[in-house]
Amino acid sequence: MRKDLLGIEGLSEAEINEILDLAEVYKRDLDSGKKKFNKLVDVSVCNVFYENSTRTRTSFENAAKFLGANAISVSVAQSSVTKGESLLDTIETIEAIKNNIIVIRHSSSGVPQILSGRTAAHIINAGDGQHEHPTQALLDMLAMREEFGTIRGLTVAIIGDIKYSRVARSNIYGLTTMGANIRLFAPQTMMPCGINKLSDKVTLCNSVEEAICGCDVVMGLRIQLERQTEGLFPSIGEYYSQYAITKERMKLAKSNAVIMHPGPVNRGVELEYGLVDDKCSRILNQVTCGLAVRMAVITLMAEDNK
Ligand code: CP
Repeated sequence: MRKDLLGIEGLSEAEINEILDLAEVYKRDLDSGKKKFNKLVDVSVCNVFYENSTRTRTSFENAAKFLGANAISVSVAQSSVTKGESLLDTIETIEAIKNNIIVIRHSSSGVPQILSGRTAAHIINAGDGQHEHPTQALLDMLAMREEFGTIRGLTVAIIGDIKYSRVARSNIYGLTTMGANIRLFAPQTMMPCGINKLSDKVTLCNSVEEAICGCDVVMGLRIQLERQTEGLFPSIGEYYSQYAITKERMKLAKSNAVIMHPGPVNRGVELEYGLVDDKCSRILNQVTCGLAVRMAVITLMAEDNK
């Protein structure tokens, strides 16, 4: 494992498999009810989230605690950041109080990379701007591997706000490295120029039906409703009619296809309301996979310190 986990771009298949293989073992244990692993001593994990989070922050916290490490979370809104303390000074302070793994989420792309060269602590990118969200892609890949036994050869449709999505970017890097084929569909205003040039395994689609037809996995992405002031699509109703994943449209996918979504979901916008709870939805299992993946990443980083 590298010192830091900054993104999926550039990771090899072997590096991804190293994480997924350990995460798979943890996932089995978690599913059987195990919560105490007591593997790590002298490890302290600090969450520093400059953006809101439910899944990522709490699962990193539980991951560290289940492993027997210390876990703390800095509440940025109540920290000295509000008094003007810089990002670098904040991170150096967190390292000085003996945290050796720092999990950071920030609205600016590239922040984890900047910090990486400025601290001896391990840096884990928990989402930076519109750039990457590596542990989300890893947990998505774990959920797919659990479902289908392999990622190689799967067809994955990613539908929604691709332009502003760090989840889409990390998944495109990860899934193509692991041998999956990707179909992308989004309103033109939410489709970044040249995204299909990242890999010859990426295809742009012209309709939601074309994207879903014959797929193994249909992944919806959150529409950032706060961006609706930018007029990226005419109305929620318009978006739903042309881009939503619905029960009717899912009939076009393979009979054993599953629905995934990184969350949080806008029910009735990117997914038909009840699909979140449908038998083909793996959305909550993704969250548990996230716990297992984060346990694996923390373990591998801590073991490299020995
Ligand atoms: N998927 C994801 O990153 O969710 P949170 O924003 O709740 O962490």
